[in-house]
Amino acid sequence: MNTYNQLIHQYRQIFKEKGLPPETVKAFLFELCNDNEVNLYLDIDKQVDNRVYDAFMKGIDRLLANEPMNYVLGYSYFYGYRFIVNDAVLIPRPETEELVGLILSKYDEYYKGQKIRVCDVGTGSGAIAIALAKEESALEVYASDISPEALKVAEENRVNNDCQVTFFEGSMLESYIERDIKVDILVSNPPYIKTIEKIEASVYDYEPHVALFGGQDGLYFYRQILKDAAKILNEKGLIFFEMGYDLKDDLRKLALTYFPKGQVEVYKDINGKDRMMLIMT
Ligand SMILES: C[S@@+](CC[C@H](N)C(=O)[O-])C[C@H]1O[C@@H](n2cnc3c(N)ncnc32)[C@H](O)[C@@H]1O
Repeated sequence: MNTYNQLIHQYRQIFKEKGLPPETVKAFLFELCNDNEVNLYLDIDKQVDNRVYDAFMKGIDRLLANEPMNYVLGYSYFYGYRFIVNDAVLIPRPETEELVGLILSKYDEYYKGQKIRVCDVGTGSGAIAIALAKEESALEVYASDISPEALKVAEENRVNNDCQVTFFEGSMLESYIERDIKVDILVSNPPYIKTIEKIEASVYDYEPHVALFGGQDGLYFYRQILKDAAKILNEKGLIFFEMGYDLKDDLRKLALTYFPKGQVEVYKDINGKDRMMLIMT
């Protein structure tokens, strides 16, 4: 049996030969060790624990086939919370954590201390909705998705993270309109990749396409949301979008078409890209 160090060395070489990032090997082993209460750094020159070895051998071929590590592990962290992920849901991204941070800071600015309602449209794994419910107990959180498989994952994540979120299955805003639910904050990270845009193979091959593509101009779902948003928003409601880095101008125009008296703010992500839009209606 190998030591951890030897195993890392051996597979780093194989990853390099296949043109895959060699750092993945150690990162994967680190996660498996954590899950089995082994300290990789203290035990680096010890023989690999049998459970860790079995899990490593089970997952490594999937990583070599370029499958994202979070699908192989079956979980991901978002805003410090653990979320189950599988091929029915998008792996929540760090940019979306920034969106949650923005919503929480705007809640403090506009609503501090008030009980308000929020809905997360296209919730996927439930990441945004669950993080908001965990972080701010004054929020009554609703979330929806068109995919029943995604909602199953979201509900499991809600239970595991022990919080209150009401999930609906439905397209865009229809579940809220049908139930006459009004909210103060509408948030969505809808599919926004342009149909023609080239994206990484590991994303295209493994992440659900229903979560990725937003039509020719990337704006299809923003249009669907904005055309109905007034029906579910309370007066002076806020809309938060995550968006493609190149959609700022078109999305601003679209927002002002539906909310001509509204105010629009754009925020950059940690990489300096235009990533979030706040529409004050
Ligand atoms: C980019 S993913 C975002 C997932 C999650 N909110 C996040 O930020 O990690 C978009 C989500 O929208 C959902 N979706 C696609 N079309 C939809 C529709 N017509 N109505 C509601 N949700 C939809 C997808 O199933 C997917 O979960």
